[in-house]
Amino acid sequence: MRIVVLVSGSGSNLQAVIDAERAGQLPIEVAAVGADRHGTYGVERSAAAGIDTFVVNFGDYADRRDWDDALRQKAASYRPDLVLSSGFMRIVDERFIKRFEGRYINTHPALLPSFPGAHGVRDALAYGVKVTGATVMVADAGVDTGPILAQAPVAVLDDDTEATLHERIKVEERRLLIETLAELSRKY
Ligand code: GAR
Repeated sequence: MRIVVLVSGSGSNLQAVIDAERAGQLPIEVAAVGADRHGTYGVERSAAAGIDTFVVNFGDYADRRDWDDALRQKAASYRPDLVLSSGFMRIVDERFIKRFEGRYINTHPALLPSFPGAHGVRDALAYGVKVTGATVMVADAGVDTGPILAQAPVAVLDDDTEATLHERIKVEERRLLIETLAELSRKY
């Protein structure tokens, strides 16, 4: 199963996928890693691992539609079976969703539909929930919407900060992501 991974940040979940693949635990090929901005550690670490990388820099496009065109075409040029949003903090348009119908996968650090958006961990802490978690879903054109594929709960501790809670959530998120990719790879 060929995958293209989209990142906006450090790509630590992506690293877990690369590690699992290289350890022979995941029958996938990371065809390319792309970002929406320059200077992400996700792209840096992928290039260091010898993976093709690209940047479709959001700031370079005056027209949102042109950015969507460029991103879709660049991702499609690698002929992926699946596109993974791994901390990719941009909404893609309907044409992207249609091009990769049912094959665009996203993860989120909360138990959706609770706490969608860019601050799922912070928002859960601020609300005061005692349990939050991680979600893997098929992405659609909404903000962290789309059919849920897998979820895992994580208890919130009294002394948690956003950083400590996010780190524990990421442990579950990576496990779910790798399990889900393994499951999906059986189709290819
Ligand atoms: C992950 O926890 C991911 O779920 C979250 O960004 C983090 C990326 O970490 N995504 C969202 O919040 C999407 N709404 P990473 O770059 O270290 O893998």
